Amino acid sequence: MRATTSATPPALADTTPAPRSTRVDVDTPGGRYEIRIGPGLIAQAQSWSGLPRSADAVIVSNPTIWALHGSQLCAAVAPHHRRVTHVLLPDGEEHKAWPALQRIYDHLLGTGCDRKTLLYALGGGVVGDITGFAAATYMRGVPFVQVPTTLLAQVDSSVGGKTAINHPLGKNMIGAFHQPLRVVCDLATLQTLPRRELVAGLAEVIKYGPIYDDGFLGWIEQHLDALLAGDADALMLAIQRSCEIKAAVVGADERESGQRAILNFGHTFGHAIEAGLGFGTWLHGEAVGCGMVLAGYLSAELGLVPPAYAERIERLVARAGLPTRAPAMPDARWLDLMRHDKKAEAGEIRFVLIEAPGRAGLRPAADDRVLQVIRRHSEAAPAGGPGRQ
Ligand code: NAD
Ligand code: GLY
Repeated sequence: MRATTSATPPALADTTPAPRSTRVDVDTPGGRYEIRIGPGLIAQAQSWSGLPRSADAVIVSNPTIWALHGSQLCAAVAPHHRRVTHVLLPDGEEHKAWPALQRIYDHLLGTGCDRKTLLYALGGGVVGDITGFAAATYMRGVPFVQVPTTLLAQVDSSVGGKTAINHPLGKNMIGAFHQPLRVVCDLATLQTLPRRELVAGLAEVIKYGPIYDDGFLGWIEQHLDALLAGDADALMLAIQRSCEIKAAVVGADERESGQRAILNFGHTFGHAIEAGLGFGTWLHGEAVGCGMVLAGYLSAELGLVPPAYAERIERLVARAGLPTRAPAMPDARWLDLMRHDKKAEAGEIRFVLIEAPGRAGLRPAADDRVLQVIRRHSEAAPAGGPGRQ
């Protein structure tokens, strides 16, 4: 499986100036839509033009984000609807689950929302994934708009139509594909994001380099300090390039029958860490960061790339402030958790591995090789969270 296709977007030159705002188009069988990226977009009327003027709109968010950005979104979309209400879910990955989903359904039914109701997901990947799943299932499907407010959600989770809730036995196990009508990435929302969350989002930005665009990996290496400092131009270009790559991959394989799996680089290990420690102990991006280090070394262990490439990934993950050592878990626990990964087939665990710089593929790996890599790159003693930054 090749990562690059004829849909490959143009490379990001080191000298590319950041535009004031920009747009990336997504074209999938399940829907064509725009990702709009720029500062202050929530407040701009044109961000919402062309969307259905349904009677009812419901903004789904959580109390943290609502307090920061809720009234602005509410005021901006109010002219398009007869009634705009909101429903707030408890904050946290551990609430990406049935009770919070039920709260959305209760609100929709309790306030008489019909099948034309437009949902707005205002928040990070948790709010986006659960709102998308509510939209996919309420009255067999209503439209929704993603308004991602974390870096992770702006570069990854809001794009591509994967929606889900977690199950205690595994991450994102209950879900549906349901494309949003639009994605509005307002860079201003990142100004209120805690640093630990910004760093976690960088994991999903870094991911796009090894799997798709080695030039982008080099660009991230050069601009990491600016990204960590919250430099608006650097963030804008990183979000744009990430969305271009995600749009190209999802456009070629919406339902993950092949190529889309590469977007899960680091996720087989990462999801095992998240579920093994209990959802919310490590942030998703932290687990993915560490998972990419393990997947890089597994690629080297299997002779696909030189060890130096795995070391390069580890160095960047470490520089970003993400954990590079996995928490201690018994071998049997690792294997059991990874067998619950959605990429597993007939009990065989499959990993996204780097086949060459900027190119990835899905491959099985023998348990003993996998465990060897984990042992070499994990903590000796049981670990808690990787530490707040
Ligand atoms: P999150 O949604 O939990 O948000 C992180 C924290 O930041 C939360 O406490 C939230 O309240 C807070 N927050 C959000 N925006 C803020 C802002 N602007 N200012 C201040 N605080 C803010 O976490 P996340 O990292 O955004 O998303 C992780 C989730 O995304 C995981 O559940 C993961 O499985 C999912 N995901 C989905 C896809 C997909 O394709 N659907 C891809 C990647 C990740
Ligand atoms: N984040 C993985 C995907 O969208 O496929």
